Amino acid sequence: MITIVAGTNRPLSKTIEVAHFYQHLLQRHQATSQILDLADLPDDFVFSALYNNVGQNDSFNALHDVMAGSEKFVFVVPEYNNSFPGVLKAFIDGMSYPSVLTNKKCALVGISDGVQGNSLGLSHFTDVLNYLGMNVLAQKVRIPFMQKNFVDGAIKDDFINKLIDEQAGLLLEF
Ligand SMILES: Cc1cc2nc3c(=O)[nH]c(=O)nc-3n(C[C@H](O)[C@H](O)[C@H](O)COP(=O)(O)O)c2cc1C
Repeated sequence: MITIVAGTNRPLSKTIEVAHFYQHLLQRHQATSQILDLADLPDDFVFSALYNNVGQNDSFNALHDVMAGSEKFVFVVPEYNNSFPGVLKAFIDGMSYPSVLTNKKCALVGISDGVQGNSLGLSHFTDVLNYLGMNVLAQKVRIPFMQKNFVDGAIKDDFINKLIDEQAGLLLEF
């Protein structure tokens, strides 16, 4: 199973819209997927599900089990203060150790309102995932200037559309 992780818990995020776009893209490639939205994290998970509380929060455990049961991932990662969101790191820190991500495969999509499309944040996040033994697809897609490039659930830029379609194909072969 491919799991698309919407990498923020911000309500009504653009990230979840891009996650749905990616799910439709994978459907066009004849691949089924599911979405894991970090907005579904329990409010208190940082205090109730990490460290010596691992395994004690049923709502968090359900999300953990989705990660554990998936072989491939797409992470949609918004740029927050020139990096990836802290809640995404806290979520990853809550995975059991040795990591449920080891030897698995993923593709990364960065999004931002500014010019960078979370370029640096994707690098930061790649370092974290590589540390855990996850294989990150080399073709990373960046969607900068989201307000003009992503409208009504669709990517408006032809070149970005081409890149993300190629990425989906490569992830399936990966
Ligand atoms: C806390 C926070 C920090 C952000 N920092 C940046 C930033 O450093 N650079 C940028 O281009 N956009 C930044 N943004 C805008 C988001 O990257 C942009 O809206 C993105 O397309 C989607 O974010 P969303 O999923 O939270 O809607 C920030 C947004 C938030 C909520």
